[in-house]
Amino acid sequence: MAAPMNRQIVLAARPQGEPKETDFQFVEARMPEAVPAKMLLRTLYLSLDPYMRGRMSAGPSYAAPVEIDAVMGGGTVCRVEASQINEFAVGDIVEAYTGWQEFALSDGRSVRKLDPTIAPITTALGVLGMPGMTAWTGLMNIGQPKAGETLVVAAASGAVGSVVGQLAKLKGCRAVGIAGGERKCRYVVDELGFDACIDHRRGDFPDALKAACPKGIDINFENVGGPVFDAVLPLLNTFARVPLCGLIAHYNATELPAGIDRAPLLMRQMLTKRLTMRGFIVFDFASQQPDFLAEVGPLVRDGRIKYREDIVDGLENAPRALIGLLRGENFGKVIVRVSPEDQPG
Ligand SMILES: NC(=O)c1ccc[n+]([C@@H]2O[C@H](COP(=O)([O-])OP(=O)(O)OC[C@H]3O[C@@H](n4cnc5c(N)ncnc54)[C@H](OP(=O)(O)O)[C@@H]3O)[C@@H](O)[C@H]2O)c1
Repeated sequence: MAAPMNRQIVLAARPQGEPKETDFQFVEARMPEAVPAKMLLRTLYLSLDPYMRGRMSAGPSYAAPVEIDAVMGGGTVCRVEASQINEFAVGDIVEAYTGWQEFALSDGRSVRKLDPTIAPITTALGVLGMPGMTAWTGLMNIGQPKAGETLVVAAASGAVGSVVGQLAKLKGCRAVGIAGGERKCRYVVDELGFDACIDHRRGDFPDALKAACPKGIDINFENVGGPVFDAVLPLLNTFARVPLCGLIAHYNATELPAGIDRAPLLMRQMLTKRLTMRGFIVFDFASQQPDFLAEVGPLVRDGRIKYREDIVDGLENAPRALIGLLRGENFGKVIVRVSPEDQPG
């Protein structure tokens, strides 16, 4: 019988612009062997996130790029298959960062044990994981919402934006979402309870956004950049806050956006309106994870924060799904099911 192999996806080439499926390669490697002080993890679910596009490029960023021929990195939910670490037993379900592969060895550092009786384990990659924590930390630390204020967030049906808007509503804000297409906008208002949601593909998008924000914008949770930010900027109120979370409209760009000479205009707006714009990466607030889970966990359990997952079956479909995520083809938090949950061993 052939020895079991470890199915992996590696970075085959650095994309120019939008990634192509040929920038990835599906390979079969030897199974990692159990060694002292390590455990063998089987990936059940792999999180796909916009930051992965940045890691495919060689340019300087806040984290090192993935090397060519190296396994793509990524957050995962795994089952412990074998363990030589006291704190972890066979069958435990954990959140880890083992990347785009079926099996990995771990020394247990940065691995969090999950209790599957508290919430579906996929939520550790979404609403109760990195994206949810991004929403909560960016909003609370930088956005600082107050009752009666207006918050705007784009990619509003997605992993981060959906949580931002719902938290803002719970804080008494008017929450205005921006999303791509009628279906997503309807979901944002009807299911998530935002006050309004504007389709950024509409020809009259800036006017529609203005109409949805009759008192201007106090918090712009910035997920997107591009033309969406151009429409938001004139609507910002004096002392508005802008948690600068992501710029997905630019991730596939091969050159600086036109109009970079508009920086002085942006600075003038920041000066005269005394805006606070602060970039952040979720791990800046890593020490707040227990507070995040203590506040948002019960809200998810009680259904006061809703979430939507876009589950893709099969590791081999991860490249296509990441390309789709960057195009806005996903509807909810993108998670790849790598192995079935209910078949130990
Ligand atoms: N700072 C941090 O630590 C941190 C952590 C996590 C995520 N982020 C950032 O947060 C943002 C949202 O991430 P997510 O994981 O929640 O993804 P997501 O919203 O689940 O999916 C990405 C969404 O971005 C929207 N989008 C893509 N291209 C766009 C464009 N050109 N113009 C407008 N919208 C576009 C699409 O939604 P529509 O179809 O609705 O437009 C797409 O579905 C990203 O910028 C990401 O990089 C930052």
